Amino acid sequence: MSNQARGYQSGFGNEFASEAIEGVLPKGQNSPQQVAHGLYAEQVSGTAFTAPRHLNRRSWLYRIRPAAMHEPFEPLGKASFHNRFEEAPATPNQLRWDPWPMPAEPTDFIDGIVTIAGNGGPAEQGGCGIHVYAANRSMEGRFFYDADGELLIVPQEGRLVLATELGVLEVKPLEIAVIPRGIRFRVELPDGQARGYICENFGALLRLPDLGPIGANSMALPRDFLTPHAAYEDVEGAFELVAKFQGNLWSAKINHSPLDVVAWHGNYAPYKYDLTLYNTVGSISVDHPDPSIFTVLTSASDTPGTANIDFVIFPPRWLVAEHTFRPPYFHRNVASEFMGLIQGAYDAKAGGFVPGGASLHNCMSGHGPDEASFEKATQADLSKPDHLTGTMAFMFETRKVIRPTLQALGAPQLQGDYYQCWQGIQKHFKES
Ligand SMILES: [Fe+2]
Repeated sequence: MSNQARGYQSGFGNEFASEAIEGVLPKGQNSPQQVAHGLYAEQVSGTAFTAPRHLNRRSWLYRIRPAAMHEPFEPLGKASFHNRFEEAPATPNQLRWDPWPMPAEPTDFIDGIVTIAGNGGPAEQGGCGIHVYAANRSMEGRFFYDADGELLIVPQEGRLVLATELGVLEVKPLEIAVIPRGIRFRVELPDGQARGYICENFGALLRLPDLGPIGANSMALPRDFLTPHAAYEDVEGAFELVAKFQGNLWSAKINHSPLDVVAWHGNYAPYKYDLTLYNTVGSISVDHPDPSIFTVLTSASDTPGTANIDFVIFPPRWLVAEHTFRPPYFHRNVASEFMGLIQGAYDAKAGGFVPGGASLHNCMSGHGPDEASFEKATQADLSKPDHLTGTMAFMFETRKVIRPTLQALGAPQLQGDYYQCWQGIQKHFKES
């Protein structure tokens, strides 16, 4: 039996409450001597018990069986989903990859994850893992949780149904989903196959960035973040619970669905966001604000203003700045930048960076527009605005160098000639 409620609660980090059976949530307390309908009360804490109130995240779950009920975990063996970021020397070279292909064999979401790069790790509680996924089979009798970090999922092709302990999220390309650390879920593929990107955040929980002089509005609005209603499964069988713990996958037998939470309340919950709702801010005079104005979510580090991770998007927008080189400028950055493309074209490249592909520009590695994009933009008629449409690129920007994995450096998708896009840049200098 299951209750697959759909629909969402709106807000970011709110104190939500939801019950699939009316009257389950206790009144005036969290763990009564007996919970209605014979359920178990269980707290899941996403921050330290004593984290400051505005950062503190936890939820109370009222469930059919406690999370402790499963057989011992055994190592799952070597997987392409891992945190081995020290296998290869970090490279200052600019890197770019073609899209990962859809799998030839039946492959579910967990088996279809390939780790591309990362830094830090769950032991130090900082940094991130950067992964792509390509899957063509729904998870069947299989559930997963990541004890190492929260998962920011960026679909590029195909919808995902994320059936979680706290309810069901359906996401499609141009939407993102965040599954908190430890929350168990199953991924179904209603379109038969799916591909996308994942940022696994080992550090402080993602939150909305501060707005500063921008004011109380713009960028991503809290009310556009959606959290599911409670939905439970009362199902028994020979199932598998896969855990990611300290960089490795583990497997345990479980004789019931762990998605058995009938009601919950709290502020630690999965959510989704439609990137097309992003309220984009930009220059209406000259020059570019830094791309931090495109930040959707940020994970703070211990240094104020220096994020562990920023999730940044490059959405459709008007470019109107006068006397200005309108595409992204040439630059070097103390931070490191992993980019992906969900759809369309990116305005700093004439070719080679295609939907489903990726690029990596590490700390202080020079990058920017290719020759064709530079020549076009310097000759453009700036009396007219440019309207960028049908595009959505994104960036995982991190304070630590992003170290590509051996499997990413050895993949046939790696473009050996990426550096060539800058080699034809003309010398225009005239001394007089
Ligand atoms: Fe950049």
